[in-house]
Amino acid sequence: MDTFVIEGGRRLYGRVRINGSKNAALPMMAVPLLTDAPVTLRDVPDLADIRNMIRLLGQLGCARTNEADNAKGVCAFHVTDPTQSHARYDIVRTMRASICTLGPMLAKRGEARVSLPGGCAIGERPVDLHLRGLAALGAKITLDGGDIIAKAPEGGLVGSTIFLGGTFGSTVLGTANVMSAATLARGTTIIESAACEPEIVDLANLLIEMGAKIKGAGSPRIIIEGVRELGGADYTVMADRIEAGTFIMAAAITNGDLTLENCPVDALLAPIYFLNAAGVHVQPIESLHTAIAGTPRPRSSTLTVTNGAGPTTTGDDPMRRTVRVTCDRVLRPVEITTQPHPGFPTDLQAQLMSLLCLADGNSVITERIFPDRFLHVAELSRMGAKLMRQGSTVIISGVRKLVGAPVMASDLRASAGLILAGMAAEGTTVVNRVYHLDRGYERMEDRLRMLGASIRRVDEKELSPSEAACAS
Ligand code: EPZ
Repeated sequence: MDTFVIEGGRRLYGRVRINGSKNAALPMMAVPLLTDAPVTLRDVPDLADIRNMIRLLGQLGCARTNEADNAKGVCAFHVTDPTQSHARYDIVRTMRASICTLGPMLAKRGEARVSLPGGCAIGERPVDLHLRGLAALGAKITLDGGDIIAKAPEGGLVGSTIFLGGTFGSTVLGTANVMSAATLARGTTIIESAACEPEIVDLANLLIEMGAKIKGAGSPRIIIEGVRELGGADYTVMADRIEAGTFIMAAAITNGDLTLENCPVDALLAPIYFLNAAGVHVQPIESLHTAIAGTPRPRSSTLTVTNGAGPTTTGDDPMRRTVRVTCDRVLRPVEITTQPHPGFPTDLQAQLMSLLCLADGNSVITERIFPDRFLHVAELSRMGAKLMRQGSTVIISGVRKLVGAPVMASDLRASAGLILAGMAAEGTTVVNRVYHLDRGYERMEDRLRMLGASIRRVDEKELSPSEAACAS
């Protein structure tokens, strides 16, 4: 199993491009199941989860048609056999987003069988809201042998008004599943308490490009007018806001100076606001249309987010900006509560906790989406962090320094938080089980090394005696 060996204390410096978004690409990759036409997605990151989704689509009769040309980040799909509608446990257990194939298959093929995703390190994660939404569209849903079996009524799904809110608010993949299914339902569907995440807007834009009639994506009420069939599309996935947030905090925790290209600033206003308050500065330099579309470069601008007033910025495409990230020498403590978008994202909570371990004072983090998403707390404490957990709140008493130690990654974002802490710590940190990280970050160690970090991927069997001593 791979580990990362990190020598801390190096400032990060230089330029890095933010990849396409994993969490936008995954529900989008289920969309070809809704049409007989080919669908091409661009700027798709090369990640374990993406590769698993390609494997799953293959099982469901939706082939990747450009395997051979291997064009970086391009995935072309076309349904070749619509009779295969069983998403099996062997893949579903590796990747929860498999559930996103349920709605599209049900809407297009009239039936689907998808293994129920199991538990997860960050929390319980039921799919009752997905099933509530699809049942409201007329589907008959039963469970058998750990599988969800869904059948559409004669004539197909029927539009309906659905309240999709749950105990912890809206559901992102639930909204994606129900919105996708409703595009082919007869009549109008209203999704109330829909997720407002930018990934939902990106998915809606792709579906609209295929001929779907969708209004209100990005707001809590989405209205979908069903159509008889959808066409194909050639669509570029949005930039990854969680990867961008992770690099912003990597610059800050190493007191570095980074330039991020293709940064979706407009999808990061809450993190930028709180990071600003802590002393981290994110300044746009120019938009990055050029890298993707070849349009001329616009003039530069500055961005500050003031409380409630929204961004003061000029220049174009705020979803593909070039920004410079710098940081005050002394970080200030902040208090945040994770919330559905546009609040502070839960997927940046672990990274922010690592950063605030070095702030001058007491910070408070409350996790409202996955109340038990704190497996990184014990690991950071091994590095000398002063953390006190009370239920779904952690009080972080800032320390002057962290010290390298062997730590265990437990989930995708916790591993990112531990790598940030390792880069700031004194001495050597060995992060075990980095396969968690590979699910969501492409070649992270290579990109960090290019920015000046001392980080190596080592098979735990090849660790040097001192590293092994450190890792044991
Ligand atoms: C998406 O997961 C993301 N995954 C997660 O990112 C992210 O943490 C989460 O949204 C919240 O922002 C992808 O996009 C692939 P939810 P999703 O349904 O859609 C409860 C990462 O690190 N709930 O919005 O599965 C649920 O338990 C991953 O990239 C129900 O109760 O999350 C949670 O408490 C981790 N019933 C809350 O709602 C349901 O049917 C929000 O979950 C569905 C969800």
